[in-house]
Amino acid sequence: MVIILVGGQWGDEGKGKVIDLLAERANLVIRSQGGNNAGHTVVTEHGEYKFQLIPSGVLYPECTCVIGNGVVVDPRVLIKEIEQLRERGIEPKNLVVSERAHMVMSYHPVFDQLEEEARGDDRLGTTWRGIGPAYADKIRRIGFRVGDLQKEAFMRKKLGFVVGQIKNQVMTRLYDAEPFKWEALLEEYLGYARTLDPYIKDTFPLVQAALDRGDNILLEGAQATMLDLDFGTYPYVTSSNPTAGGALTGSGIAPTSVDLTIAVFKAYTTRVGYGPFPTELFDSLGERIRERGVEYGTVTGRPRRVGWFDACVGRYSTRLNGAGSIALMKIDVLNEVDTVKVCTGYEFRGVVHGHPMANISHLKHCTPVYEEMPGWRADISSARRWEDLPRECRDYVERLGELCGAPVDIVGVGPRRDQYVMRKQVLFAETARA
Ligand code: IMP
Repeated sequence: MVIILVGGQWGDEGKGKVIDLLAERANLVIRSQGGNNAGHTVVTEHGEYKFQLIPSGVLYPECTCVIGNGVVVDPRVLIKEIEQLRERGIEPKNLVVSERAHMVMSYHPVFDQLEEEARGDDRLGTTWRGIGPAYADKIRRIGFRVGDLQKEAFMRKKLGFVVGQIKNQVMTRLYDAEPFKWEALLEEYLGYARTLDPYIKDTFPLVQAALDRGDNILLEGAQATMLDLDFGTYPYVTSSNPTAGGALTGSGIAPTSVDLTIAVFKAYTTRVGYGPFPTELFDSLGERIRERGVEYGTVTGRPRRVGWFDACVGRYSTRLNGAGSIALMKIDVLNEVDTVKVCTGYEFRGVVHGHPMANISHLKHCTPVYEEMPGWRADISSARRWEDLPRECRDYVERLGELCGAPVDIVGVGPRRDQYVMRKQVLFAETARA
């Protein structure tokens, strides 16, 4: 069985927790896009784990964790993550990195920052992790793939060209900055090659064999639909396709193999970085939700912008990803809110739009149309069955599912692994492990 898990909003929906639930019975967990701009938090009985590159399934030793071809891998970060796991007694023997995955080279974060600074007031608010520049080089066909680490002569020649010529011209002529020393870079990357060598593989046969066996395969999405390079609020997006389509090209799995796509939403909305956000709250309620929900970036620590649930975004995401199921997370954060609001349309120049407009200026200046519902004003963190939730809370969940066009099957009621209500069994039915 193949399940794709995607973020339905602007990221940080609580995907890490759902991935953790699914990974328990997965044979294979694959990251297929993004890089260490992601931060997936998993809270277990052994404490909190934050993953940026390594798929969250790594905590289950029988589960093979693949960093797929569509990911951009900063080897420095990957090595650090491996070391951190070792320090906590976990040897990631189950980790595999696709030799086709591209690398975030040490100069990419430098360009990310320089470009952001050059944009001034129009900056995107990237994570400065070099994600955009790494994907740009992949498209320009001057990127380095993880497999290149195993080819010293090739690395030497290519670094001489890409860095010695192209990158250093940009550094010196455009930014009036010091050139990079590509020979030193070669030494540095050969060092990474030695550490990462046991993990680097051609993942095609591995993934195909898992499909042939009928294994449980989870495609772990990072970032989210509204940050999609094509369908997000361009240019305020990330440089990959965090939608279901991207999960396929980034892992080498055919669309016909997919059984279910689960979209993860938060019961309200957050966004980090700049760009339009129609339901954003600027008042003290927004601040209260930010504090209660601990809405600060996992990667950068930046405070997240907070707003009401946007069902236009919800419907758009459900459709774009073909989601057959929704996981609605962090609903407990709204426990103390008297009246909850849901955006059902965007009014712009007298016309009400039902989905995010491509013209982000219209999206920025539209007026959200809201539906109001009574809050539940009760602590729901110990609810484990649908009937345990107060009626107002169930009504809210039902309404969101109705507006988004897919059933809400998982409701997250707290940060811990066990804090959720499962309305319908959408996880892998049983383990396919031998
Ligand atoms: P980049 O991915 O670093 O290029 O950043 C582009 C935009 O995506 C910025 O607004 C980031 O804040 C946002 N972004 C990137 N990764 C994540 C994520 O994992 N969660 C939420 N926002 C993200």
